[in-house]
Amino acid sequence: MNSWIKRDLKVNWHPYTQMKDLETDPPIVIDRTRGIKLYDENNNYYYDTISSWWCNIHGHNHPALKKAMKKQLDRFEHVMFAGFTHSPAIELSEKLLALAPGKLSRVFYSDNGSTAVETAMKMSYQFRCNLGQSGKKYFVSLDQGYHGDTLGTMGLSGVDQFHDVFTPIVKPSFKIPTPYCYRCPYKKTYPTCKLSCADAFEQLLEKKSESITAVVIEPLILGAAGMIIYPPAYLKRIADLAHRYDVHLIIDEVATGFGRTGKMFSCEYIKNIKPDFICLSKGITSGYLPLAATLTTEKIYRTFYADFDKNKTLYHGHTYTANPLGCAAALASLEVFEKEQTLAHVNELAPWFHAELDQFRDLPHVGDVRHLGFVGVLELVADKQTKAPFPTAKRVGKEIYRRGLEYHLLLRPLGDILYFYLPLCTSRKELQTILNSTYKVLRCTLNE
Ligand SMILES: Cc1ncc(COP(=O)(O)O)c(C=O)c1O
Repeated sequence: MNSWIKRDLKVNWHPYTQMKDLETDPPIVIDRTRGIKLYDENNNYYYDTISSWWCNIHGHNHPALKKAMKKQLDRFEHVMFAGFTHSPAIELSEKLLALAPGKLSRVFYSDNGSTAVETAMKMSYQFRCNLGQSGKKYFVSLDQGYHGDTLGTMGLSGVDQFHDVFTPIVKPSFKIPTPYCYRCPYKKTYPTCKLSCADAFEQLLEKKSESITAVVIEPLILGAAGMIIYPPAYLKRIADLAHRYDVHLIIDEVATGFGRTGKMFSCEYIKNIKPDFICLSKGITSGYLPLAATLTTEKIYRTFYADFDKNKTLYHGHTYTANPLGCAAALASLEVFEKEQTLAHVNELAPWFHAELDQFRDLPHVGDVRHLGFVGVLELVADKQTKAPFPTAKRVGKEIYRRGLEYHLLLRPLGDILYFYLPLCTSRKELQTILNSTYKVLRCTLNE
């Protein structure tokens, strides 16, 4: 074991990692990066097929992003955002509001996806308090949704494997069924089902809307639950019901925002969508620095705007709120979107990418293939007929990860769900190489 690994294992505690596993599968020490490739100390390279945890957009080591960050570093690195402001944050807010759908007019910055969502939760509830409706205090979320790992966002979560142990210390939301078409809980098929899974939301609102402040939802893709892709019509129905029953619509674009699905924001697949909040992070800086933003409406903002003694102030903030370097990276990333015509590139390649993925259906253990924009998913099952999953102890996902490395791929399945969450700059040639190698990985892992 080389010395960096030995030293790492002595002092670090890695996220979402059983540390004991690292003794047999040591962490890979990355030495440098370029484009969509990560290089280790021995000059082995790995295609970053999951955009470094869903955040990289324009590739690693991009000259325009580095230049913008260096330029900002020469001006100043960080100032507090209470009582002070700066041009990178102002410009970025103007740009985000111009890009976002609906009528959003205010931006509140924090530094990760969980805090972007928690900020929206707190704003939603304090809005109710400001109007004397403190009884509207519950949230609704999908029963397989994921919105972060802080205590507040864990209450929205339905990914039991991650959060079950914390149940006694978390305030749970009302849960509604996930539109997981491949494993439909009602055994129906879309569109003949007429989205009957959304009826549960309507029934809940009929009974309890007086006590509900907001519904929180990942638009079109439930990431951590296993890249579950659902029809836009479902989101439209949830949005319409929320508006009808005076329940805020909090759209969590933390993972799907910034072009991942072929639109700047995934909720734009719904015409005229009017979110009360949009939560952004991950891709906002193309993965170069931690930054998050919660966008909301003038209507919500105005209930906080009052003389100081009225006690309407939002007492929420983070030290690195609107960090100037992060804002500069985000601005540079938006410029690259324009210069490199990033969205056009994604939409040009997507149909071909999807057709290539569909060919994986012929493999014996590929139960479902789903795709949207630059996200592609292969749900692996022990039995295609019954859709029975592999026994957990078999750790198929882990084996695929191991094999992937041998083929220069960083694949990181969620359980047995293998997915691609590609940097949006991935070229057709790179994508073809990734798909060919993945095919080999699957053949040799699953045929044994
Ligand atoms: C949809 C969604 N919301 C929130 C989060 C939390 O983001 P972070 O890990 O930056 O706290 C994630 C992270 O994966 C996410 O996928």
